Amino acid sequence: MKFSIAFTFFLVSLSQLVYSSPILASREEEVVWSPTITYPLGDDIVWQSGNTVYNMTWETDNIPEDARNNTGIIMLGYLDDNDTSSDEHLDWRKPLACGFPLTNGIAYFTLDPSRNLTTRDSYVLCLLGDSGNISNRLTIQAAQA
Ligand SMILES: *[C@@H]1O[C@H](CO)[C@@H](O)[C@H](O)[C@H]1NC(C)=O
Ligand SMILES: *[C@@H]1O[C@H](CO)[C@@H](O)[C@H](O)[C@H]1NC(C)=O
Ligand SMILES: *[C@@H]1O[C@H](CO)[C@@H](O)[C@H](O)[C@H]1NC(C)=O
Ligand SMILES: *[C@@H]1O[C@H](CO)[C@@H](O)[C@H](O)[C@H]1NC(C)=O
Ligand SMILES: *[C@@H]1O[C@H](CO)[C@@H](O)[C@H](O)[C@H]1NC(C)=O
Repeated sequence: MKFSIAFTFFLVSLSQLVYSSPILASREEEVVWSPTITYPLGDDIVWQSGNTVYNMTWETDNIPEDARNNTGIIMLGYLDDNDTSSDEHLDWRKPLACGFPLTNGIAYFTLDPSRNLTTRDSYVLCLLGDSGNISNRLTIQAAQA
């Protein structure tokens, strides 16, 4: 049997943690720490597609010893309230940022116009380090034509 009970349990517990997401579920059984995202946080954040440098921040004092050397990945996704699977639609082919030390507590990125983002008020950022967590929803406005 390829899928052990432990692995299945891992998938279930991880999906409770960060909703169901193929990329998150593909990680092995290392779920010990989920980052506490400190920005973007709240309901009224509006970003613009373009060359503005944005950032994401998270708490670093709760990173366990085992994960303190890890690097992180930030992916952009969006929620669709009509999609009952609660898929985060993460763009795992094109992370916003990767390779930064988790202990930095911050990573910088742009919303490059080549991403051709549609205006939505339900974008989320997913920070993957040891385990993952997703931000509150934020609005991203499409690049002006
Ligand atoms: C995920 O981040 C949010 C802040 O966006 C925080 O409230 C929550 O506790 C974090 N989840 C976990 C499992 O740490
Ligand atoms: C992160 O972005 C926020 C919002 O644009 C900004 O207020 C803050 O100064 C930035 N933090 C750093 C360290 O650049
Ligand atoms: C983290 O890196 C330091 C310095 O390279 C090393 O001494 C330490 O053993 C590493 N910790 C882990 C958990 O890998
Ligand atoms: C969700 O469904 C409603 C009703 O069919 C529709 O008005 C709305 O535009 C849909 N939202 C999205 C994000 O597709
Ligand atoms: C950008 O997205 C729009 C709407 O989703 C689509 O019609 C268009 O073909 C896309 N352009 C590129 C270059 O991908």
